[in-house]
Amino acid sequence: MPPGELLPLAALASGRGSNFQALQDACARGAIPARVAAVVSDNPRAPALERARAQGVPAVVVERKDYASRAAFDTALADAALAAGARLVCLAGFMRVLSPVFLERFGGMVINIHPSLLPAFPGLDAQKQALDYGVKVAGCTVHFVDAGVDTGPIILQACVPVEPDDTVETLSARILEQEHRLYPKAVALIAAGKVAPPAAGRVARVTAL
Ligand code: GAR
Repeated sequence: MPPGELLPLAALASGRGSNFQALQDACARGAIPARVAAVVSDNPRAPALERARAQGVPAVVVERKDYASRAAFDTALADAALAAGARLVCLAGFMRVLSPVFLERFGGMVINIHPSLLPAFPGLDAQKQALDYGVKVAGCTVHFVDAGVDTGPIILQACVPVEPDDTVETLSARILEQEHRLYPKAVALIAAGKVAPPAAGRVARVTAL
């Protein structure tokens, strides 16, 4: 981004929206050169929508049931984000897999946060998967999105210890704290041109901020 300009982003959220909130907070306090142009949700009851409205961020609902096909739904999602002026899409607890129909509209500028050290434990219930496996270190990952489930070039990761008495709740809370730190940092790297979507099959090269 040219100096002084803010990178407009859309947060896609299906639920609670704490990662949207972390991005919004970082933008609002000027910590990252970005602004949240819209929250788009597939769930009309998502608390993320309420959070957005409370802060004057446009909140848009695009429900799967209103579209005949996945392609039509993905097109409507992309239309909503682009209509808000977004140039980057941040999946923030968006619990659907996006098809190339969506991804191609943003030229690779779609990122996701996932509560595991990928490529370990993709998909649902990542924290439970980590506990069930017995790993001693867990964490979170921000990555560019491709057509797979929690695949795509890794931008940043953060790790946390797994304590012997951890439950899914305690481990999730420890990871979430890192998510809220990591996601704004990844957006800042992109806004500053320190990392960009690499060609298919390549790793993402990150330059220090
Ligand atoms: C976060 O832990 C995020 O990493 C996870 O859902 C939670 C959403 O919380 N995402 C995934 O598991 C995606 N595969 P939030 O709504 O409070 O941001």
